[in-house]
Amino acid sequence: MFKLNGKTALITGGGSGIGKAMALLFAAQGAKVYIIDIDSSGALDTMNLVNLHGGNAHFKKCSISDQQQVNSTVDEIVSERGSIDILVNNAGISHIGNAENTSTEDFDRLLSVNVKGVFHAVSATVPFMKNKGGVILNMTSVASLVGLPDRFAYSMTKGAVLGMTLSIAKDYLKYNIRCNSISPARVHTPFVDGFLAKNYPGNEQEMFNKLAATQPIGRMAKPEEIAHLALYLCSDEASFITGSDYPIDGGFTRLNN
Ligand SMILES: NC(=O)c1ccc[n+]([C@@H]2O[C@H](COP(=O)([O-])OP(=O)(O)OC[C@H]3O[C@@H](n4cnc5c(N)ncnc54)[C@H](O)[C@@H]3O)[C@@H](O)[C@H]2O)c1
Repeated sequence: MFKLNGKTALITGGGSGIGKAMALLFAAQGAKVYIIDIDSSGALDTMNLVNLHGGNAHFKKCSISDQQQVNSTVDEIVSERGSIDILVNNAGISHIGNAENTSTEDFDRLLSVNVKGVFHAVSATVPFMKNKGGVILNMTSVASLVGLPDRFAYSMTKGAVLGMTLSIAKDYLKYNIRCNSISPARVHTPFVDGFLAKNYPGNEQEMFNKLAATQPIGRMAKPEEIAHLALYLCSDEASFITGSDYPIDGGFTRLNN
């Protein structure tokens, strides 16, 4: 079960955290994995790790916020592989702030990576999926489902990803393309460590513990736990699932009362 033999999977942001865990797992399950990232060193680490374990991974340096770059990267992958079967829109960036103290520049930056990045990857990939079907999986967040303090721009982007998920699922159902999303609560990745170092210097451990405790289950998720759900949703075993969002949150959205 959950085998991806013969499939080509494109994972954005595969150089770190959740994307890295997905690249390792998808490759272990037989997929040829293409990692798209702006961080060459992280992505090459992931690629080498996959290949060291007998998997098959490639890296293409590309910023998902640049439509031209995404189009030519997808064209390159299709010319190497013939098709793309799985697209995981995972790359994303965080931001702290409310509607008053979020700058227009930060708002635009979040929009350009977290929202337009998904648009660019989907619009470039879908024409090559249409003839034989495929799977698109988007990474959103509990920020798309509940109000989180000081996540104005971030929540805006993740709400948009949820909306795009439904729209894509509807439009491409007739082409046998399934589209779903995953909404994690906090996952312990460099995303969280970087955010703590930037926003709570000197208080990182205290804030880490506080953030961990906001999940009723009492800890953050491990990237591998998200990757397992992603694998299921991208596998043929999930062939009846489209247009759905899956919170994976240690009880965060339903049990925090
Ligand atoms: N970690 C969490 O607590 C958490 C919770 C909910 C949702 N998410 C979402 O999961 C996804 C992955 O998060 P993570 O924690 O693994 O993050 P991470 O920061 O560890 O990894 C993100 C990767 O995306 C890459 N990236 C950033 N901007 C890019 C761009 N413009 N083009 C290409 N690559 C780019 C980074 O270089 C990095 O390798 C994000 O969309 C994030 O919003 C994370």
